[in-house]
Amino acid sequence: MKTETTIQGLSASLSPARANRKIIGFVPTMGNLHEGHLNLVREARNLCDVVVVSIFVNPIQFGPNEDFENYPRTLDQDSQLLAEVGCDIIFAPTVEQMYGSQPRLTNITVGEITQDLCGASREGHFDGVAVVVTKLFNMVQPHYAFFGEKDYQQLAVIKQLVCDLNIPLEVIGVPITRAKDGLALSSRNGYLTEVQRATAPIIYQSLQTAEQQLITGQDLTDVMNNVKNTLAQNGFNVDYVEARTPALQRIEQFNQDVVILVAAKLGNTRLIDNLQIKYSP
Ligand code: PAF
Repeated sequence: MKTETTIQGLSASLSPARANRKIIGFVPTMGNLHEGHLNLVREARNLCDVVVVSIFVNPIQFGPNEDFENYPRTLDQDSQLLAEVGCDIIFAPTVEQMYGSQPRLTNITVGEITQDLCGASREGHFDGVAVVVTKLFNMVQPHYAFFGEKDYQQLAVIKQLVCDLNIPLEVIGVPITRAKDGLALSSRNGYLTEVQRATAPIIYQSLQTAEQQLITGQDLTDVMNNVKNTLAQNGFNVDYVEARTPALQRIEQFNQDVVILVAAKLGNTRLIDNLQIKYSP
């Protein structure tokens, strides 16, 4: 496994793969890897000849009061884990390497789907994600790119971006990896205190209860309110609980497949999760 920190180094490492028409798989990350990331890499390993993982804490997707400075940077530990799951190339550029020293004049706004849900409380977040992911796609030029379904809205935004800009690759969504108690794995789980960590699985439990309530015919709005109330009663500060179509359109009734999306804070830690529910009449 090689680690490259420059765009030139990355290109040089990838040039034999390109010359030999190898299938390149790409997993963009911000590091501090957990089993969820490793499952993305395993999926890439299954489908592709060469697997590239980027580790870059992207400053422009963090708001002024978010955790950019404190975001855990654990390159040595990440490298060890990536070697174990068969990553071929780690790309770990500096901010300077990624953004250069000249001001950036180009922005990418993916439109409506970035405005609500997480976009409503994280202004500019998805623009920052769209810019860095586009830059990374141009640097790596993969055939396949792998993203976790935990960041459901992010996955939708990236699929839209790839489609709108004819970026020549296929985006693959990989199901959420959960801890034994149901908590969706996230680097931010590490911020939780012991008591908060014990409370956090209530998010997934309330999603599962919502699924049962929908399947037994309860009203969609009532069910969403039940999730909100359960979370609030257990000390969460709820940002949103919403049922949407798989394409993130608003929906009033459970008369087609839905995804229930949740964002809620425990103390200062913002957690997100979602559950996709099939409709069968
Ligand atoms: O999901 C993440 O870790 C980040 O948003 C991504 C896609 C690596 C872009 O910085």
